[in-house]
Parts: sequence; C-alpha cells; structure tokens
Amino acid sequence: MAKAYNVIVVGAGPGGYVAAIRAAQLGYTVAVVEKRKELGGTCLNVGCIPSKALLESSEHYYRTKHELAVHGIDVEGVTLRFDVMQARREKVVAQTVEGIRYLFKKHKIEHLIGHGSFVDGETIEVTGDSGTELVTADHIILATGSEPVALPFAPFDEQRILSSTGALALTEVPKRLVVIGGGYIGLEMGSVYARLGCDVHVVELLDSIVPLMDKELSATLLKVLKKQGMSFHLSTKVTGIESSEEGVQVHTEGAKVTASTLAADCVLVAVGRKPLTTGLKLEAAGVVVDGRGFIEVDDRLRTSNPRVWAIGDVIRRGPMLAHKAEEEAVAVCERIDKQQPHVNYETIPGVIYTWPEVASVGKSEEELKAEGTAYKIGKFPFKASGRARAAEETEGFVKVLAAEADDRILGVHMIGPRCSDLIAEAVVAMEFCASAEDIARIVHAHPTFAEPFKEAALMATANRPIHL
Ligand code: NAI
Repeated sequence: MAKAYNVIVVGAGPGGYVAAIRAAQLGYTVAVVEKRKELGGTCLNVGCIPSKALLESSEHYYRTKHELAVHGIDVEGVTLRFDVMQARREKVVAQTVEGIRYLFKKHKIEHLIGHGSFVDGETIEVTGDSGTELVTADHIILATGSEPVALPFAPFDEQRILSSTGALALTEVPKRLVVIGGGYIGLEMGSVYARLGCDVHVVELLDSIVPLMDKELSATLLKVLKKQGMSFHLSTKVTGIESSEEGVQVHTEGAKVTASTLAADCVLVAVGRKPLTTGLKLEAAGVVVDGRGFIEVDDRLRTSNPRVWAIGDVIRRGPMLAHKAEEEAVAVCERIDKQQPHVNYETIPGVIYTWPEVASVGKSEEELKAEGTAYKIGKFPFKASGRARAAEETEGFVKVLAAEADDRILGVHMIGPRCSDLIAEAVVAMEFCASAEDIARIVHAHPTFAEPFKEAALMATANRPIHL
C-alpha cells in the first residue's frame, strides 16, 4: 500500500526544500522526491553556491595580482592552485548541502531518492536505485526547476561544449574560452575565468549584455568588464560550432563583421534555461503545460489539478531566481494551510555577482518610458563616496527612479561594491512604498557604501545631494 503524506514536494532545490520546511513547520507530514542523492537542487549543487565560491576565490587571485600594489603591498610569485580552488568549491557545496540534510532531519522531512512521476492526481511513483515505490499526498508541490538550453547544432558534451555545470567543474583554466550569451551565467562564469588569466570572448545575440536590465547599468557593466580584459561580440549570432581534440571553432555572424570564427579550448553555452518536467507524466494528474513547457498555474500557484501546485523556474511567472522560488514555496504552503500570504513580484531583486556587483529592483528607465510613467532620476557615483575611495572601489553608481507624481520609488539600479547586499535596503523601501524623500531623510552610517543610495534618493526627490 502506498505511504500517505499531507504534502509531497517534487524537487529539492531552493523552491522544493523551502516548501518542505515550511509545510513541516505548519504541522504537515512531508516527503520530498529528489533524484539526486544530495539535497539543494541546481542552486546548491551546480549553480548559485559553487559559482559564488569560484567568484570569491578568483577575485582574491585577481586582486592579489593586480590590486594590492596601490595599497603599498608588493606581492611576488603569486601562483594559482586551481585544483585547491576547485576542491574548496566542492567543500563549500558539501557543507551547504549537509546543512539542508540537517534541516530535513530536524523537521522530520523524508527524502525519497528517485525520479518522481504521476500515477494519478494524488499518487507519485518514485523510481530509484532500489526499485519503485508509490506515495500519495493531499497536496503535491512541483518544484522541478529548469535545465540549460542547448544550441540545436551543439549538444552539451561538458568537455568542449559546456553548460554552466561543465564550466564549474573544469580541471584546468582554459587559455581561451568563448561564452555564448551575455546574461547572468555568461558574465559570472566568464568573469571567473577571465580573472584567472583566460582570454574570454562573450558572444551576445542582442546589442547589449543582460538585455532586460536597465540599459545604463548594462552599458556600465560592459565598459568595466572590457577594462578587466573580457572581449565582447554584440549583435552577433553563432551559426555553428565545430569541436575536435584540439578545441572548438565557433562560427559567428555579426552586424558589422559578416562572418568570423573564434577558436577556443572550449565554449560555454549560456543562452538561458528551460523548465524541467521530463518524465513527470503530468498528463496522468491532469496538469497542463503551456507552449514553452512551463506548468500553467493560477494566481495562487495552483495548477489545473487543484491538489497540485507549482513554484520556481518550472512556472512562467517571475524571473528564474532562487529567492523567487523560496517566497513562492512559503506562500503555497501557507495557502494549503488556509492562510492568505502574498508574494510581491514587483520587488524581486536581481543580482549579477561580477565585480563590481550589479543589482536591480523594480522598473528600469526603459520600462517606465514604455508604460508612459513620468519619473525623476537621482544618480550618485561611488567615486564621490569617501568609503568607496578608501576602499579603491570607485567604479559605478546608484540610480533611484521615483514617480514624478508622488515621489514614490519605482526602481533602483546599482553597480558598485557590495551592491548584492546594498540592494536589500532598496527592496525594503519599495516593499513599504517609500518615497525618495523617505530614504533621503533616513540616517545612514558614515562612512559606508550605503550612503550613495541616500544621496541618489536626495537627488531624485529634491536634486540637492550633499556630496556632489
Ligand atoms: P540569461 O537569460 O540571463 O541570458 C542569456 C543571454 O543569452 C541573453 O543575453 C540572450 O540575449 C543571449 N542569447 C540567447 N540566445 C543566444 C544565441 N543564440 N547567441 C548568443 N546569445 C544568445 O540566461 P543564463 O545566463 O543562461 O542564465 C539562466 C538563468 O539562471 C537566468 O534566468 C538567471 O536568472 C539565472 N541565474 C541567476 C544568477 C544570479 O542570480 N546571479 C546566476 C546565474 C543564473
């Protein structure tokens, strides 16, 4: 007989494991079906966490080599131990994944290792190494995530043609790397290898990198990354990739240069991710997907089967970001518990962990123009910040966009030191419908990297910055 739970979650990434924990906190019996032996999904195992480990290490290497002399520190004989760097990445992942295992134990959540597929609207078949098992639940939450999109003519082999997973696991720093796609993954992994001495070429189809971001931000990021030695081929299409023992030949067609070939040791294809529902047998539960493979959900994140919910990358709503999935996870569990939670899709921050870091929340200038909203701009450069000068971190700015009509903050876009953390204040401000004047009148510790946000708000509200 099938074992019965209150809630079954399929997928143990940030969406799935958070759903499991919240459901357990609410007093439900919970099982998580996850095919990996390790918990944490893409983010913890082959995404956010390992990439941040390599970004951190590569930044130390780059700074030690290139940025210490100005502080009066001469360092000679700096050598790279890439094997140690990679072993540290694995250790960071193992510790993080172990943390989730501890939380599962604490909340008495069962991890059913195997591939989950629907038998009917309430029954899941779990197929693992030791055979198959049937489990049932009152509610099933689908959090199966996404997978990298391959180019039709270049399937991933993870040796020469890499997805983000392969790019994280290289055993040597390539001499030359072509990155296809100037989005989040391309720029973060491109930065890692560029800092380690690799000649990195980014090929982007559109005329700007991170095309959906505020254009001023992406233009500044492009300039900074070029200064760091990365090469960019914008408005350029990849027409073919030849792979051999020696390396890869990436054939491109650009707006200016008609046809060209980039030779490299390997190529990272980072042109987006697609929802992952393979083998779930959704039709057995009457769960519908749209034309692009996303699971269809209503406003409450319920699928076409009222007992089945879906969250995270596998649904079309919101960006494919771990923190969006986490909030949806909490909301779905609380809805199951008959509470009235809310996820504010207008205040989901996006961060690119290059250096300087890039972070955004709310509307871009382009979006405000397109919707015809009148807005004011306050923009304060980090070079006017004493703390930034003391840290030799003067690149970048904070831009506040506020409504002309009532001064309410509509968007905040920043590039500079520690923006991944600084954006949190902007998210709070927007969540509480702050005006630019509200921020301008709040005490900010001096000297900190947070002051430019206050100054930018001062500029937006009354055009009277103190330090500019
Ligand atoms: P992305 O959507 O961020 O960027 C893909 C880029 O590839 C776009 O600029 C697009 O114009 C370009 N492109 C598409 N087809 C192309 C082609 N044939 N040739 C050249 N360029 C092409 O996707 P990415 O970087 O693969 O990341 C996937 C997802 O993972 C994103 O949705 C992102 O939200 C998430 N992610 C988030 C991170 C973070 O929060 N820091 C880090 C890494 C990934």
